[in-house]
Amino acid sequence: MCGYGRVMDAQPAAVEGGPLVVLEQVNKHFGELHVLQDINLTVNRGEVVIVIGPSGSGKSTLCRSINRLETIDDGTITIDGEELPAEGRPLARLRADVGMVFQSFNLFAHKTILENVTLGPIKVRGTSKAQARSEAMTLLERVGVANQADKYPAQLSGGQQQRVAIARSLAMKPKVMLFDEPTSALDPEMINEVLDVMADLAKDGMTMIVVTHEMGFARKAANRVVFMADGAIVEQATPEEFFTNPQSDRAKDFLSKILTH
Ligand SMILES: Nc1ncnc2c1ncn2[C@@H]1O[C@H](COP(=O)(O)OP(=O)(O)O)[C@@H](O)[C@H]1O
Ligand SMILES: [Mg+2]
Repeated sequence: MCGYGRVMDAQPAAVEGGPLVVLEQVNKHFGELHVLQDINLTVNRGEVVIVIGPSGSGKSTLCRSINRLETIDDGTITIDGEELPAEGRPLARLRADVGMVFQSFNLFAHKTILENVTLGPIKVRGTSKAQARSEAMTLLERVGVANQADKYPAQLSGGQQQRVAIARSLAMKPKVMLFDEPTSALDPEMINEVLDVMADLAKDGMTMIVVTHEMGFARKAANRVVFMADGAIVEQATPEEFFTNPQSDRAKDFLSKILTH
């Protein structure tokens, strides 16, 4: 047992580096829909947190709020002790600190793989072209697509494109990486090549928040599973505890559905 709380209000035991991403009493509505309800979540430096839950439970909205692609109605979100800036340059800097990888690969179609990875560091971080190129090649090497550097996204498989998307995020030297169902648009044979890159990243100590239903990955790489339903965090536990002994009826019901496939 790792001491993670099984009830909604329990906070996890502190991991080495202390809190990096902290959400306190976060609420958000889309019109009548209360899409995030009193969310309290602390992700510690080096921690890997899996967010899991039924479709429509607010997982993507949670990720987008952390990156400020969505505004919140009330509560606070801090990254490394700093509250999310509303706009302008401070927001661009914050976004650079929070890497995000989406379900769709979102690469720039008319730029080469290498240009996709160097663009952010040059434009946002002010890195020199030569430095950005050299760092990009190291990252492309790391995700196993260095030999594709001069191609265009459409020439790559989905799995390769998603690995480039990861490299592109890493090029900004983010403090935390968010992944929103990064493998759900991939053909089955490409899922593992992306999950392997993510597992390596986790092993290297990257702080990660990952929305995924890939339980093998969760068991292998995650410190904690957060289960969401109807906009609220219903339950959190270690992967082992959560998958073998879910506490809430919502989690039991959800797991029974995904486990039968
Ligand atoms: N921009 C939006 N405007 C209105 N409703 C939205 C918007 N984005 C998401 N929603 C709704 O908010 C709820 C949560 O969506 P989402 O965060 O995408 O859930 P999940 O990622 O868990 O499937 C859903 O009911 C969805 O239809
Ligand atoms: Mg989603």
